[in-house]
Amino acid sequence: MVDAAYEELYGYLRPGVRENECVGLVSKVLYDLGSEYVEGVNAISGEHCSPHPHVYSDRLIRPGDPAFFDILHSHLGYRTCYYRTFAVGSASGAQRDAYVRCREYMDEAIALVRPGATTADIVQVWPRAEEFGSGTSGIGREFARARVERGDEAVLTGRDADRADAVAKEIGARGLALDLSHPRDIAAALADVERVDHLVLAGVSRDENRVAAYDIDAALHLVTLKLVGYTEVVHTLRPRLHDASAIVLFGCQAKERPYPGATTVATVNADVTWLVRSLAVELAPIRVNAVHPGVVGDSPYWRDKPAEVLAGLRARTPAGQLATMADVVDALDFLLRNRSVNAIDLSVDGGWLLG
Ligand SMILES: NC(=O)c1ccc[n+]([C@@H]2O[C@H](COP(=O)([O-])OP(=O)(O)OC[C@H]3O[C@@H](n4cnc5c(N)ncnc54)[C@H](OP(=O)(O)O)[C@@H]3O)[C@@H](O)[C@H]2O)c1
Repeated sequence: MVDAAYEELYGYLRPGVRENECVGLVSKVLYDLGSEYVEGVNAISGEHCSPHPHVYSDRLIRPGDPAFFDILHSHLGYRTCYYRTFAVGSASGAQRDAYVRCREYMDEAIALVRPGATTADIVQVWPRAEEFGSGTSGIGREFARARVERGDEAVLTGRDADRADAVAKEIGARGLALDLSHPRDIAAALADVERVDHLVLAGVSRDENRVAAYDIDAALHLVTLKLVGYTEVVHTLRPRLHDASAIVLFGCQAKERPYPGATTVATVNADVTWLVRSLAVELAPIRVNAVHPGVVGDSPYWRDKPAEVLAGLRARTPAGQLATMADVVDALDFLLRNRSVNAIDLSVDGGWLLG
């Protein structure tokens, strides 16, 4: 039935028809043939294909467009999810090249399908999807480094393109310029990031702010960077995430125990808790969690503090030691990997709040 719909569609597709008209045509063919329920027809063409949305529009198809369809319907309880991509008119060299590469990936994957093979065996012949990390220094950099070491592709970001590039090269990742405090520019900055498996948002500006001497600009900067910037990154990358993707946002234990000067830090990181919950509901089934480190003793911000300051902090930590960047990366791995951990705040602080 779906092949019959594709045959009709093949004859119908030409410059000037609209995506929504294609959906109408496919639905009619399927119902005429006895479909019980046309659950959804994806019809996406031209520049509408990138990033890939799951909604069709009234876009007019133009000469040379790639036109992608996915037909989902049911007949006698059997359901389909069957994709085809057409080149309207003639195919460009790039489209032919993409076709050949995709065909090779498919053939290599099909050759591996046999009893006992797992999906993990099969996906290893496909190109890796990307980890998308944040931060040219500290924990963000450490996370990207660990992921590259285990064979993943990682994108690492910072405000300055040269610095992001240089740091990324050191660890074998790809560097990208992105300023979280300018949310309106984020979509353009991320334009060429492709499919994302894991998204970690770690960027931060250090803000020492007190009500007694309130610095409005510094407060606006941090609020924008973490709450609006993080959210806009998720919004921008949303079409490039998939059902098994996972997101972790960085918060901070200052949310539980504010210190003098933490007026903005404490409130912004408390809001990370609610941002994570609301994103987990909105993006379901994609999982969204937060990690809230205490003092990370070997992070660039803390490691050069006077020894007595660090010793005092250790003494007040029930675990008897400060968290390390490796501990936080390990927590990130857990949050990204575990399929049932969702919408939580994970503290990595050695029990600091009880000290
Ligand atoms: N270290 C700790 O003890 C600790 C404790 C609690 C919570 N945390 C949280 O853990 C996360 C990572 O902390 P960290 O200590 O690793 O930080 P860090 O070493 O200071 O690194 C912060 C990163 O944020 C990036 N950044 C700063 N402003 C940015 C902006 N406007 N847009 C995009 N990126 C920006 C910086 O890159 P560029 O300079 O290249 O832009 C840098 O790579 C933060 O969210 C922090 O709140 C850390």
